[in-house]
Amino acid sequence: MPQPTIENIGSYDDLRELHLLHYIYSLPNLSSLRNNPAAIIREIDTFSEKTGKILMTVGPEKGAFLTNIIAARKPSTVIELGGFVGYSAILLGDALRANGGKRYLSLEINPVNAAVANLLIELAGLRDVVTIHVAPSHKTLAEFVNDNVIDYIEVMLVDHWKDRYLPDLWLMENLGLFKAGVTVLAADNCLMPGAPDFLEWVRASKEKKGALLKTKYGFSEDGRYVKGEELVKAIKDGKEDVELENVPGDPNWVYETEMTEFDSNGRHDGIEVVKVVGKQ
Ligand SMILES: C[S@@+](CC[C@H](N)C(=O)[O-])C[C@H]1O[C@@H](n2cnc3c(N)ncnc32)[C@H](O)[C@@H]1O
Repeated sequence: MPQPTIENIGSYDDLRELHLLHYIYSLPNLSSLRNNPAAIIREIDTFSEKTGKILMTVGPEKGAFLTNIIAARKPSTVIELGGFVGYSAILLGDALRANGGKRYLSLEINPVNAAVANLLIELAGLRDVVTIHVAPSHKTLAEFVNDNVIDYIEVMLVDHWKDRYLPDLWLMENLGLFKAGVTVLAADNCLMPGAPDFLEWVRASKEKKGALLKTKYGFSEDGRYVKGEELVKAIKDGKEDVELENVPGDPNWVYETEMTEFDSNGRHDGIEVVKVVGKQ
């Protein structure tokens, strides 16, 4: 399977995302897919089965697990980092709406993926619920703060590039987007391809995190970093050059974590659920 690389920023070499779109829109039963999110999800899975073109979607098993989180917590807003062709946005946007929620905000860096997702979301009849925000996630998160789009995160699916899991978590720790007892993050692919730095951080004590910042990540304590409320102010003041991609994390956040493992598509993988407990 061709792996997405940094050069093609999130597209497969064989443009299978576009093939998927042609496939769906050429189906003889297209009219039965209109306003039918579950049928579209089934057809995306069928596309991969028939063509052998595996797509990096959450898939049915993990999808059911994530749907249960939404059904149990009934959030008003769900955010996802990494929208791809809209599979999780359609599946979970539908679950959100069924559970009384209002907004599914999907963050996607690749405009081609976002265009494919938009057409499938339109077909699914989820236009009123799901919006796609095309930019690197750290920029969109800062925009959300600047524009008061969200006060805090309720449920978030973390499913973009694995090396961005920890820097984006650190950014969110600084932006005041976590609410104790409410915020829950579900981080996919934590075992395959794996996000070891992210797992190490969310499972570490305050003391260990302080040490990691210094020894592993090289952040000094000389106050040169714009963080916390100062960072929020810099964003709201419209400072253009403010660092968002590599902000030191806040070791004071306390998390409760649980890994659920899955065997699907011949891969062993896991979703780490991270509940924000509070601040020390
Ligand atoms: C694993 S796929 C997401 C799958 C999707 N959640 C689903 O289940 O259908 C990862 C996606 O994250 C996007 N991505 C990677 N880095 C990103 C970033 N920094 N900001 C936003 N999107 C990013 C990629 O372009 C790709 O479409």
